[in-house]
Amino acid sequence: MLDKKNILIGVTGGIAAYKVVEVASRLKKSGANVRVMMTAAATEFVSPRTFEEITGNAVFVEMFGDAAHFHVAHIALADFADLILIAPATANFLAKAAHGIADDLLTTTILASDKPLLIAPSMNTKMFLNPATQENLRILKARGVKILEPAIGELACGTSGKGRLPEPVEIYAVVDKFFTSEQILSGKKVIVTAGGTVEAIDPVRYIGNRSSGRMGYEIASSALNSGAEVVLISGKAEIAPPNGLKEFIKVESALKMREEVLKRFESTDCVIMSAAVADYRVKTPAAQKIKKDSENLTLELVKNPDILRELGSIKKNQVLVGFAAETQNILEYANKKLVEKNLDFIVANDVTLEGAGFGVSTNIASIIWRNGSVESFSKMSKADLAEKIVARVADLLNNDKKLFPVNTNQ
Ligand code: CTP
Repeated sequence: MLDKKNILIGVTGGIAAYKVVEVASRLKKSGANVRVMMTAAATEFVSPRTFEEITGNAVFVEMFGDAAHFHVAHIALADFADLILIAPATANFLAKAAHGIADDLLTTTILASDKPLLIAPSMNTKMFLNPATQENLRILKARGVKILEPAIGELACGTSGKGRLPEPVEIYAVVDKFFTSEQILSGKKVIVTAGGTVEAIDPVRYIGNRSSGRMGYEIASSALNSGAEVVLISGKAEIAPPNGLKEFIKVESALKMREEVLKRFESTDCVIMSAAVADYRVKTPAAQKIKKDSENLTLELVKNPDILRELGSIKKNQVLVGFAAETQNILEYANKKLVEKNLDFIVANDVTLEGAGFGVSTNIASIIWRNGSVESFSKMSKADLAEKIVARVADLLNNDKKLFPVNTNQ
């Protein structure tokens, strides 16, 4: 049930707008307080009156026309929402949202909002697959916006392919899941580390690694959706952090990451270390840019502190989760790290497999528990894997931290 949840639906000008009437109706029936805003084009497909009857609330279309209901409509609507659902989302809307264009009430409200955004695109297949649209979707996803992938099937334009708005019951299920999963980490404080640390050689060069930060950012996003207070401490990453973080701390070196994690460790419930921390740093980074005067250059490297090992040695009730990116003997090496670093569980993956590891949006991972049980997952999106990790953390925290959970093998 979505009792008293405030859901703002934005309807843009696509033929599938009629399906959203049923979405609004389902949300309303399950107890949500639903408000609708529409673009002018959307009103060509469905009358605002229809949504007004369904939701029992005034529908907003004009930027300056509804002063009787809200003083500054776009701000009031953005404040009202626990979740904003845009359905159907046209290619034009995606382009505007990706680039911060605010030329009507709906797009202005989006720009004025820091609330979770769920977008359900629907359009002709060629428009959907157009690189411009795909790039806009990539930008939005990188900002933590949830995209509900369109379905494949017959389209209103007489063609068939990817671009159909999912059925109302499916859209309802995604919204429902957003609110139900919100509960599992409510009141919990979670630190997520992500990305790769950068170890300076001189003021312009560094030693880095291939981490994109994607896995950790997905975990942070999933923990946020589960109601946690999330601090994301990130090394170098290719993507934007999700909305709603308590703190977003950008660091460069392993030493700085250690400092930021330790500062907050005592008052946290869980640390998920997905960062690719450099094991070594340059002993004495040059103060000035190194010139190519000599044939050979030798850098002396010294070991970085192992942050996770240190946390494992001082932890009280905190849940500690580590990652092991391996290229061989995965389970054996990961298990060794699990025990030596005193973790609750470790997520291991073979970075040599296609669809796993750095820079891709999927992963093939196993979770190894303290009792030796192993949950092996098939290839899945990093977002789905993040959800599984967060669910297991919640299980540990909410069940008074049993160290030896039963192997669920899903
Ligand atoms: N880690 C850490 N501090 C380090 C190195 C790693 O906290 N200096 C954490 C990583 O974030 C990860 C886990 O430890 O969660 C495993 O990291 P990994 O580099 O795979 O393992 P190492 O223990 O460094 O062992 P090796 O590099 O020899 O495989």
